[in-house]
Amino acid sequence: MSSSKRQKIEKFFKFSSDSENCTVCIPEVLDGNYGMYVWPCSPVLAQYIWYHRASLKGKTILEIGAGTSLPGIVAAKCEATVILSDSSEYPQCLANCAASCEANNLSNIPVVGIKWGQFTPELLNLQPVDIILGSDCFFDTKDFEDIIVTVAFIMKKRPSTEFWCTYQERSSSRSIEYLLMKWGLESREIDLETFEADSPTLAGSALPGNHTIHMYIMKKKNQLTARFIILHK
Ligand SMILES: C[S@@+](CC[C@H](N)C(=O)[O-])C[C@H]1O[C@@H](n2cnc3c(N)ncnc32)[C@H](O)[C@@H]1O
Repeated sequence: MSSSKRQKIEKFFKFSSDSENCTVCIPEVLDGNYGMYVWPCSPVLAQYIWYHRASLKGKTILEIGAGTSLPGIVAAKCEATVILSDSSEYPQCLANCAASCEANNLSNIPVVGIKWGQFTPELLNLQPVDIILGSDCFFDTKDFEDIIVTVAFIMKKRPSTEFWCTYQERSSSRSIEYLLMKWGLESREIDLETFEADSPTLAGSALPGNHTIHMYIMKKKNQLTARFIILHK
């Protein structure tokens, strides 16, 4: 079926607190490909962003493997400066990033093609960012190292950059621990309860459902601390 004939629908996500709320409209394409619809990890990461919105104003944020871009759109609505990206090999996913911006009246959000593990001019010329977002990027083990390499490269431009990511558990035997060590990163799991995401329904969406979803923050390992520990052993 040609892309113009694919059925399109709109999903709405409503984030709220006592005094503020934020509604996001996400257009989806009914298609089996990965970046065409919102994945269960996405509302969880978006909820983390919403929960921490006060600290995001003025921050520069890049979303990788963004697909329909719910977390990036919430960050933009919370006054962060956002860049959206998906693989340069999937123009339809890049079009979805742009469609989500348009559906939320967000102009001036750059959409760039960044394929994990590839050192293209788009990646090399990327400005330093404060936060990288990744929702359900770790779904195929063949991509795990490419994602970490890309994130570690972006962190070299600004060592304080954090990678906020949500991960859906599909097999208990999967681990990125050795890749984090290899590429000098460390990770901290954030309990979903701490940002009110420990629920099958989030932002009015039943997407998280019964899936086991984890939220992690990854950072460049503090090399100075590591050296200090070795020297004083
Ligand atoms: C499971 S989907 C998640 C989409 C979206 N982040 C979400 O949670 O709704 C994975 C996303 O990664 C993108 N992707 C897959 N392989 C990629 C690669 N090698 N480089 C960059 N993006 C890739 C897909 O196009 C898709 O948008």
